[in-house]
Amino acid sequence: MMKLILIGFMGSGKTTVSQLLGRQLDEEVLDLDREIERQTQQTISQIFAQSGEKGFRQIEHDVLQQSMSFSGILATGGGTPLREDNLLLLRQAGVPIILLAASPEVTYQRLQQQDNRPLGNKLGINDIRQLQQYRQPFYDRCADFSVMTDHQTPAEITHQIIKYLQK
Ligand code: S3P
Repeated sequence: MMKLILIGFMGSGKTTVSQLLGRQLDEEVLDLDREIERQTQQTISQIFAQSGEKGFRQIEHDVLQQSMSFSGILATGGGTPLREDNLLLLRQAGVPIILLAASPEVTYQRLQQQDNRPLGNKLGINDIRQLQQYRQPFYDRCADFSVMTDHQTPAEITHQIIKYLQK
């Protein structure tokens, strides 16, 4: 059975935290973006370049649907909870959905350090603020618990999530 789902904006730490949670809870981890890349044999950037965001979102939905039988921890992509059908799938899993949150400033810094995000690479702080504001209601509808990540290490965030799960 699925154990836990992580959602949140690009750079919120979903991939890193899911790895730590997987180790501490002794669960497998499925990263939706990596699974998309594995199944399509293309990078996320290549899919965006070839099929646009629309094409990517369809693939993302299909792979999410297939992944719902996965047993372990699921790390979604930053845009996954925005589609109504995705939100339904996530909620139907019936497991805790944790939102990782970060301020626009910290998100900007984190995105600067990586360049593998077709949507994230060109965003300035104000773009990030706007996109986060637009997405916030979708994240909030989806999440059971939210962790502010700005001033916490991945280990501390992981600890906080485990404490929440034990309640
Ligand atoms: C996206 C986030 C990315 C990836 C794609 C689109 C988004 O995932 O799915 O580039 O719309 O926020 P990460 O949140 O893992 O970067």
